[in-house]
Amino acid sequence: KNQECTGNLKRQLEKFFDASLRSTVPDQPGVKPVVSTSPLDRSGDYQCNNAMGLWSMIKGKDSQFKAPLAVGEALLNNLPTSEMVDSCSCSVTGPGFVNVVLSTKWMAKSIESMLINGIDTWAPAPPVKRAVVDFSSPNIAKEMHVGHIRPTVIGDTLARMLEFSNVEVLRRNHVGDWGTQFGMLIEYLFEKFPDTDSVTETAIGDLQSFYRKSKSKFDLDPDFKEKAQKAVVRLQGGDPIYRKAWAKICDISRTEFAKVYQRLQIELEEKGESFYNPYIANVIGELDSKGLIEESEGARVIFLEGFKIPLIVVKSDGGFNYASTDLTALWYRLNEEKADWIIYVTDFGQKQHFNMFFKAARKAGWLPDSDKAYPRVDHVGFGLVNGADNKRFRTRCSDVVRLVDLLDEAKTRSKTALIERGKDKEWTPEELDQTAEAIGYGAVKYADLKNNITTGYTFNFDDMLSDKGNTAVYLLYAHARICSIIRKSGKDIDELKKTGKLVLDHPEERALGLHLLRFAETVEEACTTMLPNVLCLYLYSLSERFTSFYSIHQVNGSPEEASRLLLCEATAVVMRKCFHLLGITPVYKI
Ligand code: ARG
Repeated sequence: KNQECTGNLKRQLEKFFDASLRSTVPDQPGVKPVVSTSPLDRSGDYQCNNAMGLWSMIKGKDSQFKAPLAVGEALLNNLPTSEMVDSCSCSVTGPGFVNVVLSTKWMAKSIESMLINGIDTWAPAPPVKRAVVDFSSPNIAKEMHVGHIRPTVIGDTLARMLEFSNVEVLRRNHVGDWGTQFGMLIEYLFEKFPDTDSVTETAIGDLQSFYRKSKSKFDLDPDFKEKAQKAVVRLQGGDPIYRKAWAKICDISRTEFAKVYQRLQIELEEKGESFYNPYIANVIGELDSKGLIEESEGARVIFLEGFKIPLIVVKSDGGFNYASTDLTALWYRLNEEKADWIIYVTDFGQKQHFNMFFKAARKAGWLPDSDKAYPRVDHVGFGLVNGADNKRFRTRCSDVVRLVDLLDEAKTRSKTALIERGKDKEWTPEELDQTAEAIGYGAVKYADLKNNITTGYTFNFDDMLSDKGNTAVYLLYAHARICSIIRKSGKDIDELKKTGKLVLDHPEERALGLHLLRFAETVEEACTTMLPNVLCLYLYSLSERFTSFYSIHQVNGSPEEASRLLLCEATAVVMRKCFHLLGITPVYKI
């Protein structure tokens, strides 16, 4: 498999500097090149920062270098010649920073070749063949609420970035379908519908209120509680009548979840907790045979260094739990599914659970000691979604906000805004509807993804649906405007890609071109650090750079028309790829 992405400029420069390091300081073979993008006030596009560190290693020793600046100069002189770098414009400044200026001609050629060969040539190439992304994962019989936006859209974006990187992704919905709550749900179902066969979705109606009623009965009625507890045992023991009732409840939930996923265009394969149940006993047996399991207060546990409490894997009543299921799912993903990267997306509150069973798996020798080595596991923990009062986001009657209602409102609001702009007169009802969905759902997703993952954020429709600032609406409009510039030119853009020539003579053109070329390293960073907000920030700056270019330079009708149309097209292509990776449907006219 090709492990290299030629579109990644930073990596390319790292390779050049690696070669330069080898000839500049042959006696320091361990030193790795440190290349970063240059801050705006520096006179380069990228810089190499190795000189100072090297200086502290070699100074005082019998060395040809007299100062860090001299090390930097040697690093620059020994840089292999390449079309990519404009060596006459490179410089060494301060304590030895090597400022690298890219050749503008080469930049233009690279963008032209992306336009011809497609943006997939700029995809990252991580050393991973198959990944599991465990995301969304709601609990059965509870409704999807605002809290499920985060694990759903963050997980989807991570999966999309990996898929773009040619990794085979197993998108796993680890639904909670096997907990003790099923005892009370099943007993309640038997009470309300003695003939379970006849139970239809509509008969149960709102599963959420069904859950609530059975829960209050469980809390108030000791007889019912006892029955419910026995029901769990019978279900987990495989009693066909209980299994059937369980399956019915799961089915109803599944249908509800599917509606949300369909609207958000999220693909997921359900392998819920129950799926792993048949394997748990063996897996616990294996851990036991490795001497990991001990008795503690009637339960069977794994003691782990650095944790005050042990990880319970068999409860005192003999039942399995969340941790034993997760250990088994991990075993399955490593051994049966042969995944080499497994990513779990849940709220930050579950951090300890993940840290504990990851540690247990390392102790069992399932995973390497280093947490960056493959096969690798990561927990992506996110902060909560808050309401205006900075508390968990709820409706006025202090209920959780149902995800379907929230999506309805986002769509309605964006439709209203489109109608205010007179779009109902220009467009067909379908176009109006589709655009309202793209903008409304896109706004909800983007408002989530643009945040630093670990901090919570405040949910606010007015902010996310504003057409100014860092919002999906602003970005979707910007993209649509670029498309309209291209349309209005009347030129066949595919033809232009073959015959036209891209020139980046003006500073705004070059700055935009440089940002386009940074796409590859940015997606790689967002993907390997599992931080979608890195990609959002990139997309927002891209659209700002486009605005700086377009507010100064005329495109259509100018002598540079062909080149500038190509620059517009490249910007639109990169924006669309970003939208795609963020799960947002682009809009072409506005
Ligand atoms: N169902 C869990 C919850 O709602 C999330 C499951 C996450 N995945 C996992 N393998 N534990 O909190």
